[in-house]
Order: sequence, then structure tokens, then C-alpha cells
Amino acid sequence: MRRDAPELIVALDAATPKEALRLVEEIGDAASFYKIGMELAYGGGLPLVGELARAGKHVFLDLKLHDIPNTVEKATANVARLGATFLTVHAYPQTMAAARRGAAGSPLKVLGVTVMTSFDDADLAEAGYGLGVEALVLRRARQARGIGIDGLVLSGRELAAVREEVGDALALVTPGVRPAGAEVGDQKRVMTPGDAIRAGADHLVVGRPIIAAPSPREAARAIAAEIKAAR
Ligand code: C5P
Repeated sequence: MRRDAPELIVALDAATPKEALRLVEEIGDAASFYKIGMELAYGGGLPLVGELARAGKHVFLDLKLHDIPNTVEKATANVARLGATFLTVHAYPQTMAAARRGAAGSPLKVLGVTVMTSFDDADLAEAGYGLGVEALVLRRARQARGIGIDGLVLSGRELAAVREEVGDALALVTPGVRPAGAEVGDQKRVMTPGDAIRAGADHLVVGRPIIAAPSPREAARAIAAEIKAAR
């Protein structure tokens, strides 16, 4: 059983570490888990991992690693030393197994990204795959469970089928969440926080509805309360 209590993860989609830290300060105790993606990480944000961890926050480092096993294993071990709580890798069997070895003995949890949500069946065919999105997501979810990584990142649309496939073995982390009435932005298939939790999500990644709100702290509080109520 790898599922923890459901939790809100705020996507720190900021251009600079300074802006990211300002958001963390504004949000205060309304959230304790932050996602740092590639933009911020490669924009000088990697030291924030240790800084936030030392301040008692959890960090989801969304780097989507994918390389030869030796490189993935060693990179994952370095991410564990930074103090991150979650790290993403592409859900290829070699890559997941290597990341699992790299995280062994540390509190770092490895999450597999099954199929990028920007891909549809035609994109997969063009890239040379013989499976459609749904079949490939389920195949990789099964492989992730077999390899023994900690969880998966997936859209709300895939939650119910994947939860049925993997049972309680994996933590499921879902972006594309919008409180009722919020701006959808460029997200195409959105779910409310309550619906995503009820469909089987463990942790929700929310960016703009919090970081672009007039009061990020109040917005985070409201979403965290909705998550708690849906447990
Ligand atoms: O602002 P918003 O709530 O849409 O941000 C969601 C976060 O989750 C962003 O950091 C985005 O890159 C990420 N994400 C996503 N959809 C995916 C994978 C990641 O929205 N399929």
C-alpha cells in the first residue's frame, strides 16, 4: 500500500526563483507541497528544492527523466540527495527500474508519466507505436506496478481505469484540476478537486487557480478543504 492521505500540490509555475519564493510566502501554511517543473528548475530553481525542504515543505520535482539506465539511476540518486519528495520519469520499463534503484534507501518517491496528455492515438502512430493512448497507459501502469515504483501522473480522464488496474499499489497524481467556476485556461479536460479525489486520485496538482488568484492563500485553503471533504 503506497497511498498516502490526499494532498494538494501547488504548481510553482514561476519564471524565477524569486517569484516562486514570493508565492510560497503568500500561500503560507495553506499548502505544504510544491511542484517545481522544468522551466523553474532550469531557470535557477533547483536550489529551491533544498530550501523548501529545510522549511518543512515537500517538493515534487517534475523533470520527466528518460535516458540510459546508468544515467537515470545516478541522476535519481542525486535528486534524492537534494531532498525532493517526488520525481517524475517517463514510464518506460528500463527508466522506471533505474529510477527505482536510484531512489532506493531514500524517502524519494518515483512517479511514472504514462503517456503525455498532449499525445493522441495519431501522435503515437506517427511515433511508431502500435497501441492507442488508453491501451498504452494501462500497459505502462501495469509495468509501473510490476517494477514497484511509487506512483503515476495521469489526467483525470484516465483515473478510474488506472485505479482499477493498479488497485492501491500506486499513488495517483492528477493535474488539470479546476474548482467549479474557475478559469479553464488551456486545459481541455478538467475535473473539480472533489470529482478527481472520488475518481481515485491521491494528490492533485493545481497551478493557475491558486498562483493567479487574487489571494493565493485563500484559493489554496478552499481547494485543500474540498480535497479533505471528498476523502
Ligand atoms: O495552471 P494549471 O493548474 O493548469 O497547472 C497544472 C500543472 O500541471 C502545470 O505545471 C502543468 O505543466 C502540469 N501538467 C498538466 N497536465 C499534464 C501534465 C502536467 O497540466 N498532463
